Amino acid sequence: MINCGGIMRLILLGPPGSGKGTQAQRVVDTVSVLHLSTGAMFRQAVAESNEVGLQVDPYLKRGELVPDDLVTAVVVNRIDQDDCDSGFLLDGFPRTMGQAEALGQFLEKSSKQLDGVLLPLVSDSEIVDRLSGRRVCTEPDCQKVFHIKYDPSQRDGICDGCGNRLIQRDDDHQETVRNRLRIYHEETIPLIEYYRQRSLLKEFDGIGTVEQVGQRLLALIETK
Ligand code: AP5
Repeated sequence: MINCGGIMRLILLGPPGSGKGTQAQRVVDTVSVLHLSTGAMFRQAVAESNEVGLQVDPYLKRGELVPDDLVTAVVVNRIDQDDCDSGFLLDGFPRTMGQAEALGQFLEKSSKQLDGVLLPLVSDSEIVDRLSGRRVCTEPDCQKVFHIKYDPSQRDGICDGCGNRLIQRDDDHQETVRNRLRIYHEETIPLIEYYRQRSLLKEFDGIGTVEQVGQRLLALIETK
């Protein structure tokens, strides 16, 4: 169990579609911590057509990783802000050894430390099933996630949170999902061993209902 005391600095690792965003939402509803999703930050930047958005858009569309120096600069700048002093839950970062090392160096320089790295265990076939049925809210400030079978919205195609339209993400089409999974295996899986060797890794069963998986995850985080 991770004892976070007052401050919690956590990473939610895991393949695309393993439920990181869904479960991160449950953690922040229960524990006072900021949820920082690089994917959500990038999608918001694309929606705003700002400088970062224009740079990352082609990578997101192809399901490829945004270059390390760009994503690391965005994250380091974000976690250096005052509202992260009480901790954060990183969702989707780091995803490469370069990003993990850059994060480690930044935290060391700031005299901060990671408390844990949480990894849901989910098979590739389950991931394809989850991503093909995922629907997301089109409102950039909401981005709430649903699933047509496992977590449907109350009104078909309409977000329960803000009432905007739900769509399928561009990168949830079959070919792009396969590309994202291939990249996960090549680039991100080595991080599992990296964090295991630092005694930070906590694996949990990611199969079951959203509620069951959430209980397993929260059981790993002890707050005092
Ligand atoms: P990002 O948005 O982070 O995509 P991802 O990691 O591929 O993760 P997803 O958002 O697809 O899935 P998730 O694990 O959050 O699952 P969710 O909860 O939605 O990144 C997008 C892109 O940005 C990347 O491809 C890359 O281009 C770029 N990027 C981001 N970070 C980067 C980085 N560090 N470096 C470089 N590039 C980066 O759940 C999926 C579905 O399953 C939902 O429909 C949900 O309702 C359903 N579901 C959830 N839990 C369950 C359950 N227990 N049972 C059944 N269904 C469930």
